[in-house]
Amino acid sequence: MLTVGFPSETAAGERRCAVVPHTVALIQKLGVRVLIARGLGDQSGISDSQFEKAGAIVSDDAEVHETADFLCRVQVEGPARMKPSQTVIGLADALWGGDNVRAVAGAGASLMAMDMMPRTTRAQSMDALSSQANLAGYKAVLMAANELPRIFPMMTTAAGTITPAKVLVLGAGVAGLQAIATAKRLGAVVEAFDVRAAVKEQIESLGARFVTLGIDRQDAAEGGGGYARQMDDAYYQRQREELAVVIAGCDVVISTAAIPGRRSPLLITEQAVAGMPPGGVVVDLAAARGGNCALSRPDETVRHGGVTIFAPTNLPACVPAHASMVYARNIANLLAHMIKKGEAKPVESDDILSEIAVVRAGVVHHPGVKKAMEPAG
Ligand code: NAI
Repeated sequence: MLTVGFPSETAAGERRCAVVPHTVALIQKLGVRVLIARGLGDQSGISDSQFEKAGAIVSDDAEVHETADFLCRVQVEGPARMKPSQTVIGLADALWGGDNVRAVAGAGASLMAMDMMPRTTRAQSMDALSSQANLAGYKAVLMAANELPRIFPMMTTAAGTITPAKVLVLGAGVAGLQAIATAKRLGAVVEAFDVRAAVKEQIESLGARFVTLGIDRQDAAEGGGGYARQMDDAYYQRQREELAVVIAGCDVVISTAAIPGRRSPLLITEQAVAGMPPGGVVVDLAAARGGNCALSRPDETVRHGGVTIFAPTNLPACVPAHASMVYARNIANLLAHMIKKGEAKPVESDDILSEIAVVRAGVVHHPGVKKAMEPAG
């Protein structure tokens, strides 16, 4: 019988886990054994006995590593402790740097990178980047609201009228759209910009204003699958200049602009930050890929003049209960897609599995990942 194992999460600050009691039952129905490392759910509020009640075997981390056929986790990170017969499933940042890919390949094992999941309707229920970015967009707005010396909503009181805060969201993908919705719910006046023309309607349907810049060449920016394409340097230079004028009128900027596998575009200059009102807040969600703001430092708080710049790299881990719940669903859906009557189908037989199975028995298969691993220059 195949064993699906959930080892301890080892990445610094990681509080999420890849399984919850509800998904234990779903996975067991596939005809496999579920093995979970002791204490795995502690930070998500799930006890070992809850996992056991759901039908899992709880054991020490070493046994999970020793006996599992599939090692499912949130973050794949080296140094890898795995055997050639094993498949690791998790977020591996496969298009960025390639360290995790190399670690798995070096061990002769296989890797299914959740971050390579195609953004298609069929794969939607397994799309972990989206399930996590959604939570990050929500939490980024709360972070900004908490820091801002003003409140978000308009209030008319006997002591006078308070005007609403102005929030600008840059990049209206999954995180950005959730940031817009959250800022609106808190009562802010929200504006947003994205290089892809397709999202204008989505921004407006959430009640935000779509910012129009003179540089708009948005049809050219559509990269397919809801992702943007890289534009040229002259475009970004113009965008930075034009955005600086918009940013000067905003209390909060939430930036989420990203291009798969590339450094995040630099959109907010030091001068633009200096132009913000005192007490202004920037939350740069793209910090792990170099950041959208010139002043961002990953996981640090920078004060520049009167403005605060946050650059959190793992906001979903700040809401581990729900982040684990949705991530565990993504994993269970993938396992259900792959395992039928206790047997895993060959990855080559399925387009979704072929796309995410970036390392197979020690060999890097995915052309995009191979390219990303080539030395720069
Ligand atoms: P996404 O790809 O769905 O959205 C990114 C958006 O940025 C796209 O709509 C794209 O068109 C837009 N964009 C690209 N270039 C732009 C430009 N020059 N100006 C304006 N918009 C531009 O990505 P998703 O899932 O929403 O994630 C956004 C970012 O947040 C990514 O960098 C992701 O890695 C990061 N993230 C950060 C987390 C954290 O805790 N810090 C957690 C989850 C995601």
